[in-house]
Amino acid sequence: MARPLRLSSWAMSVEYAIRDVVVPAKELERKGKRIIYLNIGDPVKFDFDTPEHVKEALCRAVREGKNWYGPSEGLLELREAICEKEKRYNDVDITPDKVIITHGVSEAISFLTTAVLEPGDEVLVPGPTYPPYISYPKLCGAKPIPYRTVEEKGWKPDVDDLRAKVSERTKLLVLINPNNPCGTVYDQKTVKAILDVAGEHGLLVASDEIYDRIVFEGKFKSTASLAKDVPVVGLNGFSKTYLMTGWRLGYLYLHDPEGTLDELLETILKLARVRLCPNTPVQVAAIEALRGPQDHVAEMVEKLRRRRDLAYKRLNEIEGISTAKPEGAFYIFPRVEGIGSTWRTDKDFVLELLREEGVLVVHGSGFCPTYGPGHFRAVFLPPEELLEEAFGKLEAFMERHVSP
Ligand SMILES: Cc1ncc(COP(=O)(O)O)c(C=O)c1O
Repeated sequence: MARPLRLSSWAMSVEYAIRDVVVPAKELERKGKRIIYLNIGDPVKFDFDTPEHVKEALCRAVREGKNWYGPSEGLLELREAICEKEKRYNDVDITPDKVIITHGVSEAISFLTTAVLEPGDEVLVPGPTYPPYISYPKLCGAKPIPYRTVEEKGWKPDVDDLRAKVSERTKLLVLINPNNPCGTVYDQKTVKAILDVAGEHGLLVASDEIYDRIVFEGKFKSTASLAKDVPVVGLNGFSKTYLMTGWRLGYLYLHDPEGTLDELLETILKLARVRLCPNTPVQVAAIEALRGPQDHVAEMVEKLRRRRDLAYKRLNEIEGISTAKPEGAFYIFPRVEGIGSTWRTDKDFVLELLREEGVLVVHGSGFCPTYGPGHFRAVFLPPEELLEEAFGKLEAFMERHVSP
């Protein structure tokens, strides 16, 4: 008889709310219900598409036979193009030897957490956060500790709360700016105050800036550009700005002002070697994405700005829903009245909305058990008509369930 398999308790504790809620939605779809998906941050699923010159560069790379295994750290020419991009748009000075190409920011998060964390270590993450910043530390046996972000201030971090949560076991401090799931763009003063805390306690900062060029209010400042003596690992990628979600390409870089990160770099490189190399033809196309025409970025931001304005106005008109105004990215994180009374949890709210109206959003607790409950996250990527329709359905749902 086969011996019962004891699975990894760390792996079993892992969740990804954004995709977990798709399972019941697909079930309903199989039964013939039409679903409006507002759960996943993939612009390419809507009326945004990878720029033609980038698609062409990919096809050319494949045709020209650039289909070999490349270096584990990624192609030098792409790492050079990333250094140029970080300097031009984010005022960050880095050299190609400090850049590692990954299969999306997702793999960069996995590399960083695996390289840094040991069981019992703590990671300060924004509350609410992008869920892999909870899951990957857990896979290492480490503990994600959410620091408060303040809804009334557009979900800006509460730096005093952050400072109070630093402990002997804290290894890493995560920033997501512009933020997923709240759409906040941190002002320079806040980023500097967070860097001061990191400096006081000798913490490594991880700054996820995948939405760096999707900003509506124009005040994004990269963490590494402000960090004089604090080491920062920057994480970024091609999924959002370059509309290459399914191509899976990202990078991390080390801003190492005092030369303290050599061992970290070497350890991440070892992890990169274990998985051989990132996708070669996609890297060739990414060089074209960075160095070729950039017109699609402004067009995308303008289109998203109109959809952000619509989502913000329309959601706040609904009785029982209130929301802060996102300043970047393509997410909105409204509060719902009646969670804890009409619906036992925010997940129950999400599932009931899905069953009754066929609108899929993600429960706030999936982004943070402490600061997420009572909310949901929706994307404002769809065209205006589809957003109007989804919010109309949500309004009808709220009128039925929440008494005036
Ligand atoms: C903050 C943040 N980081 C990372 C990712 C994942 O990016 P990638 O597609 O590069 O793995 C996302 C995707 O939604 C995100 O919102």
